[in-house]
Amino acid sequence: MAHAELDRLQACLNFALDTLRKEMDNSQLPPLNQHSSVQHPLDDPTAYLPSAALFNARRLSLACLGELKNLIQPPLDKRMDEKFSTYSAASIDTLIKTSIIDYLSDLSNPSEGIPATELASTFGLDSQKLVPILRCCAANGWVRETRDSSFALNRCSRTFVKGHAGRRLNLSTPGFMSVVAAMPRWVTESDWKLSRSPAQTAFQIAFKTPLQRFSWVMQNPQALIPLADHLQVLGDMSTPSIVADYPWEQLETPIIVDCGGGEGGLVSAILDAHPSFQAIVQDMENVVALTSSIMKERRPRDIESGTLKVESYDLFQSQPRIGNEYSFILRHILHDWPDEEASKILIIDMVTIPNVDSTATTSVKSFLMDGDDKHPDYCVPSHFGSASKLVNAYSVHMLSLMNGCERSLREWENLVKGCGLCITNVYALRAHASVIECTLDAQGLL
Ligand SMILES: C[S@@+](CC[C@H](N)C(=O)[O-])C[C@H]1O[C@@H](n2cnc3c(N)ncnc32)[C@H](O)[C@@H]1O
Repeated sequence: MAHAELDRLQACLNFALDTLRKEMDNSQLPPLNQHSSVQHPLDDPTAYLPSAALFNARRLSLACLGELKNLIQPPLDKRMDEKFSTYSAASIDTLIKTSIIDYLSDLSNPSEGIPATELASTFGLDSQKLVPILRCCAANGWVRETRDSSFALNRCSRTFVKGHAGRRLNLSTPGFMSVVAAMPRWVTESDWKLSRSPAQTAFQIAFKTPLQRFSWVMQNPQALIPLADHLQVLGDMSTPSIVADYPWEQLETPIIVDCGGGEGGLVSAILDAHPSFQAIVQDMENVVALTSSIMKERRPRDIESGTLKVESYDLFQSQPRIGNEYSFILRHILHDWPDEEASKILIIDMVTIPNVDSTATTSVKSFLMDGDDKHPDYCVPSHFGSASKLVNAYSVHMLSLMNGCERSLREWENLVKGCGLCITNVYALRAHASVIECTLDAQGLL
């Protein structure tokens, strides 16, 4: 009997995995190994930029795997899987909070693993609690159970060791779970269920504050550094691709202004690759103090020479830097804000693809975006299937925090048009975000 959908996905997955393997060989990368205790270059997008073909083959593999899972997993299991994934995340949080991760990493033979009882006595914990927590992490591919009730770090959990990207991606900030829990009530029955204000969201309900999220952070300085670090890592995930994939050499302006530029990681990377530019990082007053001290330490010569400036600027006031010597970057800014609040130029953010019925498909050719006609014409959902889960969950996160969202190209076009601008080009990145290039006077693309 023909099993059209299953056959299509199976064939597509085989094709994607064959391509992945070939592209890894072309890039002279070592084989992927779950049992290794050493990070693989592909594990850290902030430090390694895969070839476009490899990036696309991995995304296609993940899309097929996710679609296959959607196809064959019983819905009740799927529901339980999703709900209980909260515990998986909390289990990793526990290993980070206790420093068990760092301890396992510092062992003289980190791949051998040590008994949970030994971990429990070292950290003054109960081994009866630690074993299920560690097994939950193991089931999610984060640690290995090397012998019954003995555990070791694996390749993936290296990212949580102090100083690594996964550790700085502070997703366990206090209050995160209460925002998630407040979201359904906010949307369905709160007084604000029809409000589009960034100060009337699940965030205010969860944090019991009238302040919008960034104003709250300003009033709670202990939250500033962890949030700034988190946002910097989030940005760093697309920085190598932004630097490599946008044609910076064609930019005619000598000065790049990064509006809401946070800790300044993006302009630093652009200046490293294109030292002829000058750059300005603009952000809120308290953030700017942090950015200045980081930049003075990391780029003292650029600060002294004036090549790099850091200045306080409120996004909702008129831009003080006016003139055609400036280009403006807004990375991960507009997704924070609802349309009524967003009104500036040059955008690096995610572009969602409407999640239309997954029978509406696109061919592998366009999915891989490399124009190679030799590819077999397998079909995968046009919204990248399960490879778009992260972007869509992020959209709900932005909604819950600020009444923001991740926008589709059509939605970006509406927003940009409303500001008297037009989209001149969209550059796909080897990352979750894209560069949406806008100008005042050019003819729009769409
Ligand atoms: C999601 S982060 C993006 C940071 C940076 N663009 C990046 O991609 O790494 C949002 C940034 O906007 C800044 N911000 C929020 N409200 C602002 C305002 N009213 N004026 C200036 N900056 C603001 C925050 O401090 C934060 O650095």
